Amino acid sequence: MQHASKIFLIGFMGSGKSTAGRRLASYLKWSFVDLDEKIENTEGMKIPAIFSQKGESLFREMESKALRELQPESHVVISTGGGTPCFSNNMEFMLESGLTIYLKMTPSSLKRRLVRSSEGRPLLKDIDRRDLEGFIAAKLAEREKWYSRAEIITDGLNTDLSYLLSLIKKRIIQ
Ligand code: S3P
Repeated sequence: MQHASKIFLIGFMGSGKSTAGRRLASYLKWSFVDLDEKIENTEGMKIPAIFSQKGESLFREMESKALRELQPESHVVISTGGGTPCFSNNMEFMLESGLTIYLKMTPSSLKRRLVRSSEGRPLLKDIDRRDLEGFIAAKLAEREKWYSRAEIITDGLNTDLSYLLSLIKKRIIQ
């Protein structure tokens, strides 16, 4: 995608997609959509309840539908869920529809963040603290093949927003 009017932030749970997305949107004066929040609003349920009552595969269908509903939007920054790129050809869809940015982090940095916030995350709720880093490392290795297709790959731990903006500005329709 040469000149995009949508930006998709992708990366593992805890990589700061929503925070970076909100900040980017405010700098660009674009709107902001958090894909998980969009699903929660449509379903009238929180993500953990969707997973426990409807199951992951239905959640993945909702996620891919919610993503495609954004097709007509422009000048929007979208923070996706950690699994979004890895299902239903969603990564292809994002690569074709906008500028994709991967907030990359190591398993140990992700663990430090996720240890404090695993409760609202259904994939982590049954993982013992001692196994968390191993789980993250394995899941990340599995997902890296999707994440690494992003057009821009940047450090999620210390996201340098001004550097990111300089990369983005050449590739978007302002
Ligand atoms: C998921 C990540 C979550 C949410 C759901 C599944 C995943 O989003 O979509 O719990 O598969 O990695 P965050 O990345 O915002 O935590």
